[in-house]
Amino acid sequence: MGKKAREIVGVDLKELIKDLDRAYCDEWLAYYAWWYMAQVVDGKGYEDMGEFLNKIAKDELEHAQELAERIVELGGLPTNVPGNLAKNANAPYPGVMKNLHDYNEIIKIVIEAEAGAIDVYNKIAKKTFGKDHDTYQLATHIMGEEITHEEMFENLLEKK
Ligand SMILES: [Fe+2]
Ligand SMILES: [Fe+2]
Repeated sequence: MGKKAREIVGVDLKELIKDLDRAYCDEWLAYYAWWYMAQVVDGKGYEDMGEFLNKIAKDELEHAQELAERIVELGGLPTNVPGNLAKNANAPYPGVMKNLHDYNEIIKIVIEAEAGAIDVYNKIAKKTFGKDHDTYQLATHIMGEEITHEEMFENLLEKK
């Protein structure tokens, strides 16, 4: 990103890069948890659950990539050591299910993390609206996918 392009970003660049890096770390943690659960999920209908988890894991990895690109464009660097991902994230590691066939626990873990992600991108979108068009667009694009993830898993909840 050139001098002029950076100049027109109407928010504190250092702070914005930090916000984006925290989200970047969240994405890696979510990717790891979803991917891991997809590998080990067990029980009746495990293939479908595995497919769902793999699908959203792939999205989170893509989000991490999009955030890394934006951070670099803004003149920053994303977290470079895996051991620091949990430390630099907004939220703690979402965790994985204790019982491999406990779909309700999986769904609960996913819904909670997706709700947190929606909050994170909503905040970044509000902060950059009218001030940094590219980051704003990225935040709303990712938020839209997190909303889809939340909905996908909410629809799996057992109806009472
Ligand atoms: Fe994501
Ligand atoms: Fe997500």
